[in-house]
Amino acid sequence: MNKGFILWFTGLSGSGKTTISQALEPELKARGCKVEILDGDVVRTNLSKGLGFSKEDRDTNIRRIGFVAHLLSRNGVVAITAAISPYQAIRDEVRAIEPNFVEVYVKASLEACEARDVKGMYAKARKGEIKGFTGIDDPYEAPPNPEIICCTEKESVTECVEKILSKLEELGYI
Ligand code: ADX
Repeated sequence: MNKGFILWFTGLSGSGKTTISQALEPELKARGCKVEILDGDVVRTNLSKGLGFSKEDRDTNIRRIGFVAHLLSRNGVVAITAAISPYQAIRDEVRAIEPNFVEVYVKASLEACEARDVKGMYAKARKGEIKGFTGIDDPYEAPPNPEIICCTEKESVTECVEKILSKLEELGYI
């Protein structure tokens, strides 16, 4: 059985977490890994349905994602998570329960994410139609010591995928 691990993406909405995780999935599968993606937007339609965006609800969401990712990981699956996961303390909580934890900071400035505005949500947040939007009027705590940083304003999706794969090789996960 291949070794399971958690590949934990964190970053602002629109930073590229989903895009990179989806591009990475077939590469990992081609290397014999079983892969499951726990994407914030998807998780919020089932596992975390009904939760909002208060600190308490976000923490609950992240703890749930961490719990499921851990179950997958210990059964030999590569659990990729792609949620904003804005709070360092909760990311560290997951790291503490998971021996094989790789944190990827998907880094893009608020200006860049706002200019992309893939889902039109930054515009709504600026107009006050969405309150407590991460980066606008809600905090995002960048990780101080992530294993990997993908700078999506400078690096292409392919470059980010390559960077992650080589780090995973270096760490002995693949
Ligand atoms: S997290 O903070 O709990 O990790 P998660 O990744 O699950 O967030 O969900 C973020 C997504 O929900 C965003 O990409 C966006 O589409 C949507 N969203 C809706 N309201 C908010 C908000 N107030 N802050 C951030 N994202 C929001």
